[in-house]
Amino acid sequence: DPRKVNPRTVPPFRPVDTTNADTLTVPGGYRWQMLAPWGEVFTADGREIGFNHDYVGFFPADLLEGGRSSTDALLTINHEYANALFVGGNTKDRTREQIEAEMRAVGVSVVRVRKSGGEWKIVPDPRNRRLDAFTEMELTGPVRGSAAVKGATRVRGTVGNCSGGQTPWGTLLTCEENVDGYTKAWAGSGYEALHQGWVTEIDPFDPAWMPKKRTGMGRFRHENAAVTVAKDGRVVVYMGDDMQDACVYKFVSRGKVDPANRRANRELLEDGDLYVANFGNGTWALLDYARNKKLQEARGADGKPLFTSQVDVLLDARASALAVGGTPVDRPEDIEIHPRTGEVYVALTNNSKHGNYFGQIIRFREEGDDWAATDFLWEVFAVGGPQSGFASPDNLVFDPYGNLWMVTDNSDLGTNPIKAFHGNNAMFFFPTEGGNAGRAYRFAIGPVDAELTGPVWSPDGKTLFLSVQHPGEDSESLDTLTSTFGAKPGTRVPRPTLVAIEGFPGWREG
Ligand code: FEO
Ligand code: CA
Ligand code: CA
Ligand code: CA
Repeated sequence: DPRKVNPRTVPPFRPVDTTNADTLTVPGGYRWQMLAPWGEVFTADGREIGFNHDYVGFFPADLLEGGRSSTDALLTINHEYANALFVGGNTKDRTREQIEAEMRAVGVSVVRVRKSGGEWKIVPDPRNRRLDAFTEMELTGPVRGSAAVKGATRVRGTVGNCSGGQTPWGTLLTCEENVDGYTKAWAGSGYEALHQGWVTEIDPFDPAWMPKKRTGMGRFRHENAAVTVAKDGRVVVYMGDDMQDACVYKFVSRGKVDPANRRANRELLEDGDLYVANFGNGTWALLDYARNKKLQEARGADGKPLFTSQVDVLLDARASALAVGGTPVDRPEDIEIHPRTGEVYVALTNNSKHGNYFGQIIRFREEGDDWAATDFLWEVFAVGGPQSGFASPDNLVFDPYGNLWMVTDNSDLGTNPIKAFHGNNAMFFFPTEGGNAGRAYRFAIGPVDAELTGPVWSPDGKTLFLSVQHPGEDSESLDTLTSTFGAKPGTRVPRPTLVAIEGFPGWREG
């Protein structure tokens, strides 16, 4: 029971120094293994692990029987995007075949893994599968069948799969983030822009259940989905829109979780209320066309109504959010809920428009400690920069003790002030209580031109699963590789991979 366990006020490891080494660096006493590299065949029908691993979900293999195995699980791995140079071997004048290879390299892998003798291995399982840019999915919620999507109820694929979340009933929420560039990149593939940019629910235990795009949760650059259950049993999902000057949202289901009815729970995210955070007055503003006059009264520069229906509101959730007083913030990346205190932590990664290169982590507490409340109080938890040693916080995760861990994303910032002190992207540990609360301790450092993403622990706290995303991304050609991390023996092309890190003592009750 995590609530009975004391969080640490000092790290359980000796922090590592910054480095630009082309490897995964971890403290003494810890070791890592590659578990699911890009290209590894893992399904009976010969499908491969996808590219650019991001969010990882850990679903104990015995979860539906009430178990909590830490050594046998279905992992879900998001594959955020494909690098044309590495996946197709070419970036210009790509052939139809190359584009289709990219479309098969994105999406989600569902992978059965097991630990024995201290080693993790992928094991055969009928539920091992790939969901990619071709997989058939159902559009659900208010946008389903609407004129805006030309009446579509079934769509193809999931793309831009960044972070995500796990529901209490054992499904994955995968978040479609940077979906904008695909119309051009995959021209001629039948790709439809409005079919992407949603939160998509996938059941790793039930391959026959068609994945469902939850349009009631709005369309934006969905970074993440932090799921919890409010006092009255309704499901609450916190979500960020990862763009400069975009907002933080939450979705509250209409129905309540019934622990004895998984089938009914799987439909809960179909119907509910979407809110946006106003950090000025600490309130959640409702994004419902019929019940919020501000949406009905909103006018564009031409004097015409911005929205005429809930479908309009959901399709442009960003404009709707601003119309009802949502606060634009500095690129909300991951959001996580503290397992002991219930506080909600938000990584605001950076915003070059405001000269905020280093970012910060904030936290808020809902009124009455009720996640369904419409008021909250917030504060700054940690600020990036040369003093604290980190910059550009991206994914967050709590270990079972209530300690916060964070990985950085300093990609695409060019020659910015971060390079002077940061080194390669890293993973940090933060105590959340006591005198050291908010202090950053460096735990791991990724290889060259990589991000560490998707951290998640096994329930016993002994294994940390971590993705090494886009090593060598800035390589201009296959002859000028900046990294060879994870390359197959005898080759040099770097491979994104999932790693398993061992050496944690597991959690003591304190
Ligand atoms: Fe895919 Fe906002 O990170
Ligand atoms: Ca992210
Ligand atoms: Ca997370
Ligand atoms: Ca990222």
